[in-house]
This record gives sequence, structure tokens and C-alpha cells, in this order.
Amino acid sequence: MDTSNITIKTKNLYLKGVSSDYKHDIFREFTPEITTYMFPKPAEKIEETVEFIERSIKGNKKGNSFQMAIFRKGSMDFLGCGGIHRINEKTPELGVWIKKLAHGNGYGREAMTALKEWADQNLDYEYILYLVAEENYPSRKIPESLGGEVARKYEKINMSGKKLHMLEYRIYPPKK
Ligand SMILES: CC(C)(COP(=O)(O)OP(=O)(O)OC[C@H]1O[C@@H](n2cnc3c(N)ncnc32)[C@H](O)[C@@H]1OP(=O)(O)O)[C@@H](O)C(=O)NCCC(=O)NCCS
Repeated sequence: MDTSNITIKTKNLYLKGVSSDYKHDIFREFTPEITTYMFPKPAEKIEETVEFIERSIKGNKKGNSFQMAIFRKGSMDFLGCGGIHRINEKTPELGVWIKKLAHGNGYGREAMTALKEWADQNLDYEYILYLVAEENYPSRKIPESLGGEVARKYEKINMSGKKLHMLEYRIYPPKK
């Protein structure tokens, strides 16, 4: 399924396929503070951001992923990025980041809730993964609000060299 032209509207948000139109926003907002508990590290040059976007567009077109940019509905302010990896497999994975200035509004949770609903309607999955560092409390609220439960704990060194104590949440589809 080509996901590159899908758009999703929620109460406060507008989600659409990631594109190079927002490369400057992504480059500026994906900061060391934002990536503290994430696996990737910030791009040092805009070319790295462009590479990420091109890879994401290819994945969306091939139906391997559903990588979105997130905007505030109405003003269309750029807020961050989110998506589902490996949508063609039994255990796809949700991921999200919201720019620092927009934290505290529940936008991350709103975007992930919408993507989970999209997955329930469009994917045939066993469970959705949400991988999060134990100390990342705002992020843990997301899988917990979607009924996710911790199935595994492990350690991982992220690309910035920080050791993360990771929790693997599994979010199951609604019972039929
Ligand atoms: C994770 C993230 C997307 C959450 O964004 P959001 O849904 O917009 O989250 P908010 O800032 O509105 O906060 C969500 C919840 O966490 C709570 N929270 C915030 N800081 C907290 C803290 N230090 N300790 C405990 N809870 C906290 C909020 O009170 C809110 O809870 P509530 O909904 O029950 O009131 C955002 O924090 C982010 O982009 N972080 C950096 C990137 C990242 O870590 N991504 C996730 C990788 S797994």
C-alpha cells in the first residue's frame, strides 16, 4: 500500500506524508534535547535531513512505512514527525517526536492515537511495538493510553553514545 498521499485529520492536528518541503523545520527542530531518549541523533548537516526524508518517501511509496509530518490544524505550523515502521509486517512500530515549543499539549499522543486507529482499520498486525526509554515519562504515557503493556526490558546504546534502559510496549488490536 502506497501511503505517501494519505492525510489524517484529528481534533487539533493535520498529518501528511513527510516531504522535502519541511526539511528546514525538521533540521531545526530535531535537536540534541529532543533526541535525548531516542535512537537517532540530530543531523549535523541539512543533507542528512534530506537523506532521511528521501528514505522515508521511498518507504512510504513501497508500502514499508507510513512516515508523516505533523502540523497544527488551521495555522499549519510544523509540530514534528511521527509514523509507523514496517507496516507490511506483523509487528509494526510507532514512533514520534514533537518540537520543544509545542510540548505540553498532548499532540504526540493525539497523533499516535490517530495512527493506531489507522492501523486498526488498514493493517493486519499481531501487535504494535512502542520502544521507549524508561525515564522518558511523557513518551511512556502514549503506549499506556493505547492499552500497551511492557513485554520486555533491554539496554541499548543510542547513536549519541548514551546507554538507554528500554521498555518494549506491545499494543494489541481491538478484539473482533
Ligand atoms: C514524547 C513526546 C512526543 C510526547 O509529546 P506529547 O504527547 O505532546 O506530550 P505532552 O508534552 O503533552 O505530555 C504528555 C504527558 O506526559 C506528562 N509529562 C510531561 N512531563 C512529564 C514528566 N517529567 N514526568 C511525568 N509525566 C510527564 C504530561 O503531564 C502528559 O500527561 P497527561 O496527558 O496525563 O496529562 C514529546 O515529549 C517528545 O517529542 N519528546 C522528545 C522525543 C521523544 O522522546 N520521542 C519519543 C521517543 S520513544
